[in-house]
This record gives sequence, structure tokens and C-alpha cells, in this order.
Amino acid sequence: MEAIARANTNIALIKYWGKRDEKLFLPMNSSVSITLDQFYTTTSVQFSPNLAADIFLLNGQQENEEETRKISRFLDKIRVLAGKDVHAIVDSMNSVPTAAGFASSASGFAALAAAASKAIGLNLDERELSIIARQGSGSACRSIYGGFVEWQKGEREDGLDSFAQPLLDEKEWDLTIFSVLVESKRKKVLSREGMRRTVETSPFYSGWLKAVEEELVIAKSAIANKDFEVIGNVLEKNALKMHATTLGADPPFLYWQGATFDVMEQVWELRANGIGAYFTIDAGPNVKIICERKDEKRVQAALSELPTVQKIFVCHPGQGVTYLSTSDFKNRKEEE
Ligand code: ADP
Ligand code: DP6
Repeated sequence: MEAIARANTNIALIKYWGKRDEKLFLPMNSSVSITLDQFYTTTSVQFSPNLAADIFLLNGQQENEEETRKISRFLDKIRVLAGKDVHAIVDSMNSVPTAAGFASSASGFAALAAAASKAIGLNLDERELSIIARQGSGSACRSIYGGFVEWQKGEREDGLDSFAQPLLDEKEWDLTIFSVLVESKRKKVLSREGMRRTVETSPFYSGWLKAVEEELVIAKSAIANKDFEVIGNVLEKNALKMHATTLGADPPFLYWQGATFDVMEQVWELRANGIGAYFTIDAGPNVKIICERKDEKRVQAALSELPTVQKIFVCHPGQGVTYLSTSDFKNRKEEE
């Protein structure tokens, strides 16, 4: 009863920010993302009747009780669906910094959903997989698919209409997404806590919900038309609005650091010089910059000039979940 799956992270162009149901991970608003080719999680799940409890290894290290409990709670949903009461060894490798705003939770839970459901013998389609992955981490439901993806918030209380759907295949629009590392430490306010505090206390949250509805329409139409200027403008504005809500929270918080702002200013400088580059930032200090492939070198050169930038990863739209053989997984672990 073993299966191995790989899922790429995704970066939201229109953010998921706030839950209407914390238990089922039902969002307040729909969101839109690009799945990235360079950052991914590879997870092996092996169920065994000989195990007394679940074991969770991340990058070769056994994780603490709290992290293992998160995995067990997620596996419980899969065990209930399969009607099998059996524990698992989860062995996961992140080719992405963990808890630093690079969406390790998205690739992590998408890979876990795919590997665990296959290992236990469930034959789920992509929509069902998206619904399961959502219940590990909301953004994970979008990583089931490649390319440009929408997570429809849904209306139902049971969450069965809250899943991701592909908008445009990864091969259809060749954009460049730079993931710029300015800080690799685990962040202090996890996205889960950050969005909860914002929903509960920020007076700006109602403004967010109103704006995001309009921005979703603009973003989806820009993707359908492959209109780069329109998607760029709307994704940057949407990110700024999400971060503005955190300043109104109580206690207030901000994911940006000085280096985050250096990158933002450099992007504005590029645009002032006629180069179409736009930034977005998730729940951490690192920045993602999106440009057309033709401008990739110029944008990379401008980002490289910044002394506070530690590393620049060059990504392109990537594929959805794939399954690996045991030997592929062993080879990967030896490489890393
Ligand atoms: P990030 O920006 O990296 O997504 P989050 O705070 O949203 O940061 O999520 C980090 C959490 O995601 C981790 O604390 C862990 O619970 C979970 N996570 C990260 N990687 C994996 C993985 N490979 N498998 C399962 N869960 C993971
Ligand atoms: C800012 O999906 O990590 O990256 O559902 O609580 O696990 P949980 O949160 P998570 O939040 C992602 C927030 C975001 C925006 C986005 O990816 O849409």
C-alpha cells in the first residue's frame, strides 16, 4: 500500500485570504493561481497494519508532534473515505523553502492527498482530489492542476462545490515568474493564523471582499485573452490590498521586511522604464515577480542588482500532480 506523488506549488494572482469555515477550509472568496514548475513536493505514503501511529518525515527528519498531528488529521479524512483504519509513514521532500511564503503547504498537501488516496486504494478524479487537498491547506486544492487555475469558493456548507478548475494549460502562456528570496527563516505569523486574525479584527476586510470580486472578473478575462498588462496590473493591486488588511488587524502585523520593499521599488522602477514587470507577495517577506518571457533577462538583471536579494529562482508555468515509481523517489532522495 505505497504510492508516491509529486505536486508543484502555486502562486496566487488573486489571493485566497480568509475562511468562512475553518474546519472544512472553505474560503470567503474565490482565487486564481499559476502552478510553478520549479518548486515542488514529492511525497511517499505507505500504509501498514503494523504501525501504531502515523510517522511524518520532512526532508529526511522526523517532524514534531504538532506537525505530525496535522498530517494525521488529514490522513483521517482519507481513512474515513476508504473505510480503512490503518496508519502510515509519510516521507516527504520539499524542493521549496518551508513556511517562508513560497507555498510549501500547497505543494505539500496536494502531493499528500494524491499519494495517500492512491496508496489506500481510492480512485479519485482530479475534482475529488482537489476537494481533499483543500482540507489540508486551502491553496493546495489549486496545485492539483497545472497552468492557470481558479479555486471557486462554492456556496454549499459541506464544501462539495469548493474546488479548483483549470483555466489555461501551462503550455498556453509562457510567462516568467521570479521567486525572489530575501529571507528563508520560517515566518512568525503562519498564513492560517494571519487570515483568521484579519477576518476577525480588521475593519479593512469588508473592503477586501468587495474588491476581490471585481478583480477576479478582470483576472479571468485577462487570462482568457492572454492580456499581460491587464493581468499584471490586477495581480499587483490584489496583493497590495491583501497585505493592507493585515495592517488593520488587532494586533496588527505585516509580512514585509525592508528587503521586500527594495524589490517592490525595483519593480516600479522597471515599469517606469517601460518594462512590464509586476509583483505579488504571499504570507511571507519574499516576492514573486511576473513578466513576459521576452523581458526575462532584463528583469533578472535588475533584481540581481539588489544587495538584499539572497537568491532568485526563475520559474515558468508548471504541471499538475504526477505519480512516481518507488525507484524514481529513491533516486531523487539520493540526489538531494
Ligand atoms: P508556506 O508559505 O510555505 O505555504 P504556510 O505557513 O502556509 O507556509 O505552511 C507551512 C506548513 O505547511 C508547514 O508548517 C506544514 O504544516 C505544511 N507543510 C509544508 N510542507 C509540507 C509537506 N511536504 N507535507 C505536508 N505538509 C507540509
Ligand atoms: C496568502 O493555503 O497556506 O498564500 O488554508 O490555512 O492552509 P490554509 O492557508 P494557505 O493560505 C494561502 C494564503 C496566500 C494566498 C493564496 O495562496 O491564495
